[in-house]
Amino acid sequence: MNVLGIETSCDETAAAVVADGRRVLSNIVASQMAEHARYGGVVPEVASRRHVEQINIVLKRALADAGVMPSEIDAIAVTNRPGLLGALLVGVSAAKALAMAWDLPIIGVHHIEAHLYANFLTHEDADFPAIALVVSGGHTDLFHLRAPGDYVLLGRTRDDAAGEAFDKCARLMGLEYPGGPAIQRAAEAGDPRAVALPRALLPGTWEFSFSGLKTAVRRALEVEPRPNIPDLAASFQEAVVDVLTAKTVAAAKSIGVPRVFLAGGVAANARLRARMENACAAAGLQLFYPPLVLCTDNGAMIATTGYFHLQAGRADTLALDTHASEPLAALAPVTAPS
Ligand code: KG4
Ligand code: ZN
Repeated sequence: MNVLGIETSCDETAAAVVADGRRVLSNIVASQMAEHARYGGVVPEVASRRHVEQINIVLKRALADAGVMPSEIDAIAVTNRPGLLGALLVGVSAAKALAMAWDLPIIGVHHIEAHLYANFLTHEDADFPAIALVVSGGHTDLFHLRAPGDYVLLGRTRDDAAGEAFDKCARLMGLEYPGGPAIQRAAEAGDPRAVALPRALLPGTWEFSFSGLKTAVRRALEVEPRPNIPDLAASFQEAVVDVLTAKTVAAAKSIGVPRVFLAGGVAANARLRARMENACAAAGLQLFYPPLVLCTDNGAMIATTGYFHLQAGRADTLALDTHASEPLAALAPVTAPS
């Protein structure tokens, strides 16, 4: 079964063809990052316009790269929630047009669920139950994935998302956008113990907070006339990774699940991957994370998620709607050890 996956929820216009939910036949991503870089963040109106310009080009390339004709596509999956409304509408409209023209089933996909499913796309042995950490530009969510579609949100960030913290602190340090890769690069030459920065562990909850860390980075820059940026970048990255690793592993141990998934753009961070590897190995947990290209936004994860839903007998109609914000799962009244 070949599913065409379409993703336009933020600043990447992406389309991919995935066979049977596992084999990526093509994966085309047209990034607008350079365009948004001069504003230091994504400008919604600019994003929508670029999606309109790029969508047909990206769709044609996705089919051509996969070497499939429209008649060989069996279904269309599209991100319809959450995201920038104007941006989502471009992908959803294109998906509806193709579904109508080619007479195919259409399925709307939740963007965060798709980030999680990037793990099933690449790891045959990925399974439920799992603790999943979704860290992106807009989310820092810790989930207990009990079974397909049965998810519990253990906690999320009280303020900035992890990716947002990377982006904002990079800006403070005079590094380029997006800040995650920029901080990772700068940190390679720095000492993670050079600058003392706070870690908001928020005992008793599965929540996160990064605004205090951002303030501390700002202060560190104010008091130091000639700051050592590699040291500050490494110290900041270590503070974020310390908290993400500690809380994720603690959740898996406390709830008693045998595996951990990482997902979202920040899961591309080399230090986070390395520290999680060590911490999970020490705790006897199996760790899964997608390859780099499937961590940041892409159409393949959308196609795979759509495939699993279609296999379970779910499909949408041409009345499919878009939603700017919709939680993937209800927040559980679970308390964490203090
Ligand atoms: O998942 P994603 O592509 O888009 C959203 O859905 O938000 O995530 C983008 C975020 C950005 O904040 C970016 O700075 C961060 O992921 N990111 C990273 C790295 N690569 C991307 N953060 C830390 N280290 C990286 N290597
Ligand atoms: Zn994303």
